[in-house]
Amino acid sequence: MQYMIGIDLGTSSTKTVLIDRGGRTVRSATRAYPMAQPRNGWAEQDPEDWWTAAKETVREVLRESGVDPSDVRGVGLSGQMHGLVALDAEDRVLRPSILWCDQRTAAECEDLTRAVGAARLVEITANPALTGFTASKILWMKKNEPALFAKVRRILLPKDYLRLRLTGEYATDVSDASGMQMLDVAKRAWSPTMLDALGVEPSWLGRMHESCEASGRITEAVARETGLLPGTPVAAGAGDQAAGAVGNGIVREGLVSSTIGTSGVVFAHLDQPAIDPGGRVHTFCHAVPGAWHVMGVTQGAGLSLQWFRYHFCEPETAEAARQGVDPYVLMDQEAAAVAPGADGLMYLPYLMGERTPHLDPFARGVFFGISARHGRPEFIRAVLEGVGYSLMDCMDLIRGMGVSVKEVRASGGGGKSKLWRAMQADMFGAVVETLTSSEGSALGAAILGGVAGGMYPDVRTACDETIAVKSRQEPDAAAGAVYRERHALYASLYSSLKADFRTLAGFSG
Ligand code: XUL
Repeated sequence: MQYMIGIDLGTSSTKTVLIDRGGRTVRSATRAYPMAQPRNGWAEQDPEDWWTAAKETVREVLRESGVDPSDVRGVGLSGQMHGLVALDAEDRVLRPSILWCDQRTAAECEDLTRAVGAARLVEITANPALTGFTASKILWMKKNEPALFAKVRRILLPKDYLRLRLTGEYATDVSDASGMQMLDVAKRAWSPTMLDALGVEPSWLGRMHESCEASGRITEAVARETGLLPGTPVAAGAGDQAAGAVGNGIVREGLVSSTIGTSGVVFAHLDQPAIDPGGRVHTFCHAVPGAWHVMGVTQGAGLSLQWFRYHFCEPETAEAARQGVDPYVLMDQEAAAVAPGADGLMYLPYLMGERTPHLDPFARGVFFGISARHGRPEFIRAVLEGVGYSLMDCMDLIRGMGVSVKEVRASGGGGKSKLWRAMQADMFGAVVETLTSSEGSALGAAILGGVAGGMYPDVRTACDETIAVKSRQEPDAAAGAVYRERHALYASLYSSLKADFRTLAGFSG
């Protein structure tokens, strides 16, 4: 039997999966790590935590499965996108990585837009300057930490840092590189104009690959630490959204995924690049060679429910421990007992600002319409619906660009909730499917590793051999009508509060 390994470096944990040729998970292992928030809106992680998690999980899947390492044909990488990993001449990490959800760089985005020109920026990078992207984080470091910045010799993305540790290679892939805002997205190559504007030397950046190409091989030292065979090929891999799309078979036009992880993403495959002139959805290179994708991003999707659970759902968490079930299952049951519309309670999921459609780092979460009747069930339902409305914003924009939406595939932790899937079907007015494998980005990473290792001729064939639909959720028109009506109010709440969010951000504490 032939196997492939996918390593998915997430925001809350790293997950490694060992997958067989038919796409079945033989073993998976996860290690969590913290995210530091030194100031409101900041988000950082220690790259050493990622490496420890990757190393330990690879070792664990190999040991626990008993699979012969010589049968592992390839390793693929997927990672949280946009994070800045800055290294010195000795490959030492210069500062904690500034993550995708960090919102400190509003001023730097304005600087970048002025320097390159708003229209030119969209022409080259297919996107406006955004706080989430790597480019503005580079400018922030240059401005605020000049002594450290002077030592920078390499700039990598999170998963590309793992690659360096695994193979000794400085490399990246077109999908993840698209999110650095230094790539000419139509040409799939670094943009000299962007590098000049940022003061980034080409030698600081990784060699560019398509996602399914081999980018390096496992070193002897890493082989000793992990149990992998030295020389095992490591695919270039992909940003977690493109990798997740591969893991969900979103490799042809008409197929769309809706993924609820920490963030929420509606993702559609494109044969040709298509750009929203307002830049409210991102156009990036896909992990399928010669293809692109468009995606809308909700910053605080699963994060919203996780936040609510940690701070307000102690009874559900305790009861879940007694019953030996996941607390989210009990939270779902409570929310399912409330009718669509959450009894008039609404939630805006802007805990970490918002990308699609507002591109607003100052936005913050809101509960609206609280009455003395409401308890935790209404609040939980409002959180689920609020995240849904935000995904609806993404879907509406993507459809508005003329992108065909034939099938929607739910994935991520949030895709496990039947209630959340039903809400999405009703809100999108489309059938929402689940797949036999729910590994998402980790499976996508493994598939890319499998292609790089010669197990399949190309990414589409690999998807056809490994991915199958398990369930279909039909939309309910009556619930859909309720959600459409509420969605209009949801949109107008943001408009009413936009200026107030900015005022709030100006206060000192
Ligand atoms: C995509 C994005 C997130 C991160 C973390 O643009 O910022 O999906 O990749 O998952």
